Amino acid sequence: MKYFQHVADLGDLQQAVKEALEVKANRYAYKHLGENKTLLMIFFNSSLRTRLSTQKAAMNLGMNVIALDVNQGAWKLETERGVIMDGDKPEHLLEAIPVMGCYCDVIGVRSFARFENKADDYEEKILMQFIKYSGRPVFAMETATVHPLQSFADLITIEEHKPVQRPKVVLTWAPHPKALPQAVPNSFAEWMNAADYDLVITHPHGYELDPRFVGNATVEYDQDKALAGAHFVYAKNWSAYADPNYGKVLSTDRNWTITTEKMALTDNGYFMHCLPVRRNMIVSDDVIESDHSLVIPEAANREISAQVVLKRILEDLK
Ligand code: CP
Repeated sequence: MKYFQHVADLGDLQQAVKEALEVKANRYAYKHLGENKTLLMIFFNSSLRTRLSTQKAAMNLGMNVIALDVNQGAWKLETERGVIMDGDKPEHLLEAIPVMGCYCDVIGVRSFARFENKADDYEEKILMQFIKYSGRPVFAMETATVHPLQSFADLITIEEHKPVQRPKVVLTWAPHPKALPQAVPNSFAEWMNAADYDLVITHPHGYELDPRFVGNATVEYDQDKALAGAHFVYAKNWSAYADPNYGKVLSTDRNWTITTEKMALTDNGYFMHCLPVRRNMIVSDDVIESDHSLVIPEAANREISAQVVLKRILEDLK
């Protein structure tokens, strides 16, 4: 594997989950793969889980790791070609990327949607420049439109906890005070569809996701109806995708907060969220602290999803 952005990049998904469970059972078995290899993690945005879990996964594989926070301590980067660089950005991405490629064997990129230009976000302008100019394998650590390491970890977690072969999985919008990208719900829908679960997506009108990610999922605007009989409830906020409201907050309706009463509609369902989460906006204290909350196992599985991806990249390094 050279690039990791979408579920299809993993090939056979059942095989990938099997490999993940094997890695989880024996995470130091592949330490030879990363000997004298360096991972460079580039962060344009903040992170707790992605940074720690990906670094841990790389160390499990014997890699050296460098993390660069672009906006703290590095030169501010211009990303647009043709700009007269007389402002506050002394370095251009077009030099910075090949330079970064000189110092490493593999690159992970975190670069969120900027909500300045929908086409730039949905064409993954920053990630694509890393793929084009770094000369290295590149994987997404949450980019403008996807968060595949999170969704892979979520899939592993569901496989570990599912009470039936084909569970009902509900992706529900929940309120948040700030505009958030669609990357997590996009990827979650993509991966749940690929796993062939019974996927229902519920949100207020105006929050429709990109149909390329929604796929064959059922869209239900009544959250209570959607939650009925669910085995897993995946809560997440996202901003509007559809024009002319791209990137806007259209609602902060706290009737969509996941509470004990909402979870009572499910089939003894598990609560999931990628974290960080705003308590009592997205989910009540009671639900996230309940024995049916999977937020910590999901976060723990981030180490495993990252390790499978890095392992496959290392195995294919020329
Ligand atoms: N879930 C997740 O990606 O967490 P961080 O933003 O802290 O990395």
